[in-house]
Amino acid sequence: MHTEHTPARRPRLTVIGTGYLGATHAICMATLGFEVLGVDVSEEKIDALANGRVPFFEPGLPEKLRDALDSGLLRFTTSFDEAAAFGDVHFVCVGTPQKAGSAAADMQYVESAFSELARRIDRPALIVGKSTVPIGTAARMAELVARLSPAGSAVEVAWNPEFLREGFAVEDTLHPDRLVFGVSSATAEASLREVFAPILAVGTPLVVADTATAELVKAAANSFLATKISYINAMAEICETTGADVTLLAEALGYDDRIGSRFLKPGLGFGGGCLPKDIRAFRYRAEELGVGQAVAFLDEVDQINLRRRSRTVDLVRELAGGSLDGVRVAALGAAFKPNSDDVRDAPALDVARMLYLEGASVAVYDPEASANAHRVYPDLDYADILGDALNGADVVVLLTEWDEFREMSPVSAAALVTHRRMVDGRHALDAAAYRAAGWEYRALGRPSVPTAVPSYQPAG
Ligand code: UDX
Repeated sequence: MHTEHTPARRPRLTVIGTGYLGATHAICMATLGFEVLGVDVSEEKIDALANGRVPFFEPGLPEKLRDALDSGLLRFTTSFDEAAAFGDVHFVCVGTPQKAGSAAADMQYVESAFSELARRIDRPALIVGKSTVPIGTAARMAELVARLSPAGSAVEVAWNPEFLREGFAVEDTLHPDRLVFGVSSATAEASLREVFAPILAVGTPLVVADTATAELVKAAANSFLATKISYINAMAEICETTGADVTLLAEALGYDDRIGSRFLKPGLGFGGGCLPKDIRAFRYRAEELGVGQAVAFLDEVDQINLRRRSRTVDLVRELAGGSLDGVRVAALGAAFKPNSDDVRDAPALDVARMLYLEGASVAVYDPEASANAHRVYPDLDYADILGDALNGADVVVLLTEWDEFREMSPVSAAALVTHRRMVDGRHALDAAAYRAAGWEYRALGRPSVPTAVPSYQPAG
């Protein structure tokens, strides 16, 4: 007998919060063939995305957005009514910034997203948190949802932490190195398996856990990465007083497979919208839970990281002859890392600000982040092109390792500056080439004059 077989409809997805994480997730899920509704309270963001414009710099994402819009699978709205009616699985991707005047995470956006949705969902659904949150949030949100939703406990809560890096957001979303599902029921796990089927199908490792573990994975991963960076930067401090060279040290350590060379790059340290605030919020939450001692070392990690910024200012002052008053500084970079226009907790911009506060006249140049930087620190001068920042500089300081700076010719740059003095805050330049072109070259954790290493001649 022939029976008509209709395949089950794929779950419809909503993504609440279309910032960095949410916009990328919404766009990528649509390119994987799901119907997706992106939701945000900001009309401006929704308008931009609906019109095919990504409101931040992320390589590859604008093309994916256009594909997704053309396919008809991706739409955007500011209406929670529409979201609740549309979605089977709702992803909450709103921000958890650091609270003003505290180390804690500001949970107002997460709480509001969960309550606005829950109030309106009147049928079985799954709300999946992706935001980085204090441990215990999923359990708290599950209670809130059960209380507020007309469907009661038929609306479940799960947690699915996200590990995407800015600059690699599309790659990290479509080809993550692992997926983590924090679930309280087999139904929730089944829904998540369905949604991530295309990613699981290519063999992506999956860890299924309780929600507390899933929340902790993210805090633990970011703390580990931050600790690794601060570890090598602490070694740079030792190098500075012993005449050792931290770049050679990092290379030698990195060859040990157990240590590995990734996230062992010394320099100005970490910044951005994640690592700094996540380690602080983790430390704060651990203290609240009575286990503060276990992660007390994260305070040191934070302090080591912040000291790199003041030490960079010291190097610029030293090169300028002891005072920054009236000194013209070319600050190369404002973004917290290259290939990003993000200036949240950017070490680069912090250094530029400190130089300015000591009386230097600072010209900042960044290939992508100038507009965002200008919004935060309007007092600094922003150059439109690299040459304008270099022009007449007494000291040049490289703060973000954009390719444009790595590729700059020390000879052409020398023709623009008043004094050939370079502080390389990211170990991005060829020290020998700069010295050969007559520059005084200084870098954190490296000797001010190159150590004479005996030159070995192989016996011929
Ligand atoms: C980070 C995590 O990598 C990611 O998994 C998480 O989801 C969000 O936070 P991101 O903030 O995009 O991602 O930046 P990342 O590439 O990790 O760099 C963070 C900071 O560390 C940057 O300021 C970078 O310059 C600095 N860094 C990184 C170093 O100073 N040395 C290194 O070796 C690596």
